[in-house]
Amino acid sequence: MPKQGEKSSAFFKRALDVIPYGVNSNFRYSGDDETLVVDVAKDGYVYDFDGKRYIDYRLGWGPIIVGHADPFVNGRVKTAIDKGISFAATQAYEVSVAERIIQMNPGVDKVRLSNTGSECTMHALRLARGYTGRDVVLKFEGSYHGAHDYVLWSTASGDIKQVGDRQNPRAYKQSIGIPEVMRSLVQLCPWNDVEVLGDILQKRGEEIAAIIVEPILGNGNGLMPQPGFLEFLRQQCDQYGIVLIFDEVKTGFRIAPGGARELFNVIPDLSTYAKALGNGYPIAAIGGNEEIMKSMGPGKVFQGGTYTGNVVSTAAADATLELMQAGEVFSKIEKVGKTLMAGIDEILNRYNIPHVINGVPAMFGVCLAEKQPRDWRELFEADWDTLEAIHGYMIANGVMPEQDGFEPYFLCAAHTMEDAAQTLQAFEDGVKHVVK
Ligand SMILES: Cc1ncc(COP(=O)(O)O)c(C=O)c1O
Repeated sequence: MPKQGEKSSAFFKRALDVIPYGVNSNFRYSGDDETLVVDVAKDGYVYDFDGKRYIDYRLGWGPIIVGHADPFVNGRVKTAIDKGISFAATQAYEVSVAERIIQMNPGVDKVRLSNTGSECTMHALRLARGYTGRDVVLKFEGSYHGAHDYVLWSTASGDIKQVGDRQNPRAYKQSIGIPEVMRSLVQLCPWNDVEVLGDILQKRGEEIAAIIVEPILGNGNGLMPQPGFLEFLRQQCDQYGIVLIFDEVKTGFRIAPGGARELFNVIPDLSTYAKALGNGYPIAAIGGNEEIMKSMGPGKVFQGGTYTGNVVSTAAADATLELMQAGEVFSKIEKVGKTLMAGIDEILNRYNIPHVINGVPAMFGVCLAEKQPRDWRELFEADWDTLEAIHGYMIANGVMPEQDGFEPYFLCAAHTMEDAAQTLQAFEDGVKHVVK
C-alpha cells in the first residue's frame, strides 16, 4: 500500500480516533501508516489527501466498471433523487433494472434486488434451502461469498495449514464469533477438483441444498475453471436435486454482459450479482429461473430489507446497464486489459521469471509460479513475496493494483491505452527494482 503523505497521514489519524483500525471493513486495514485513504476518484484514477494520483486497478474491489464518478450514471441519480428515494413501494427504476438484468443474462426469468453481495448470497442460500427442504451448503475453498456466518469458512485468507487434506477438507472458521454449530451446515470442497467433489456428493449429495461457486476465482488471482468443471457442477446438481448458485458478485456484468452464464455457456439455477451492477452504488440482485424464484414470497421464503430496490441504487444500476447495453463498455475494457495481460507476460518472459497470467481482461491475476495452479491450495506454491514487492513499488509510483496478489487487477471502461503503457513501465521498473 502507498506510504501516506503528510495530509493523508493526518487524516488517517483522525479516522483511527473514531473508527476501529480506521476502516469500515477489516480487509481495508494494512497498517497505521500504509492504509489507503482516498479523497477523490474520477475515471480510472483515485487521488489521496495529498493530491497524489494513482491509476486504480482495485476499483473498490470490482464495482467500478464504467469509471469513477461517471457523469451519465451520476446524472441519472441526481435526476432521480429529486423525486424522493425510499418509499417501501415498487418504483420505476427497480422494474427497469430487473428487465435489463433479464435481457442480459440467459436463463434468468425473475430478479429480486438487495444492497450488498452478502445480503444476496444469504438470501439465495435461504431460497435454496427453502426450495429443497435441505440444510447443508457446499462451498469451495478460497471462495468468498460475503460476511455472514453461513459462508465465512475457508475463504481466500484462510489458514492453509488448518484445512485438512484435499480428500477430507475441513472448514476453517474465518472469525471468532461464528457459532460452532454453523460448521455442520457447510461442506467444503477444493475448487476445480471433480474427483473430490464427485466423492463428496456420492456420500452427501442428498443432504445438500445448494452448491455455491465463484465461476472464476475472483478472490484467488482470477483462476479459471478447468474445462468441464462448471458443466460437471450442472450435471451433478441435476442428478442430486441440488440448487446450483453462481456467485457472480465479481464476475457479473464484468467478464461479459451476461457474466459467467454467457462466457461459459452453463446456466445455473440462481446467480447472485452486485459490484459492477451499480458502478459502485450499493446494489445487488438474485436472478434465477421461474420455478425456484417463485418460492420467494409471503408465507414462503423470506427476502426483504428497508433499502432493497431504493431509488439511488436502482437509478445508478439502470444507467450503468443502459451504458453496457448500448455502448462499448466491454470492448474498451477488453482492449486495455488484453494489452496489460500480454505486456506483463512479455516482461516476465524477458526477465526469465516463471509465471502464469490468470483470468480474463476485465479481471486478471499475475501469479509467479512454475506451473498453473488448479485451485486455492495450489496458489500457495507461488512466490507472492516477489509479486507483492513489485506491486508495492508500482503503488509508490502511482499505479495501484491490490498489493495482495490473490486479488485480481480490475479494469474499467475509463482506463486508457496511455494508462496501460504507464502501468507496464511501472511493472517493468518494479521487476528491475525487486529482482536484482
Ligand atoms: C464473490 C463474492 N461474493 C460475495 C461478496 C460479498 O459482497 P459484499 O461485500 O457486497 O457484501 C464478495 C465481496 O467481495 C465477493 O467477491
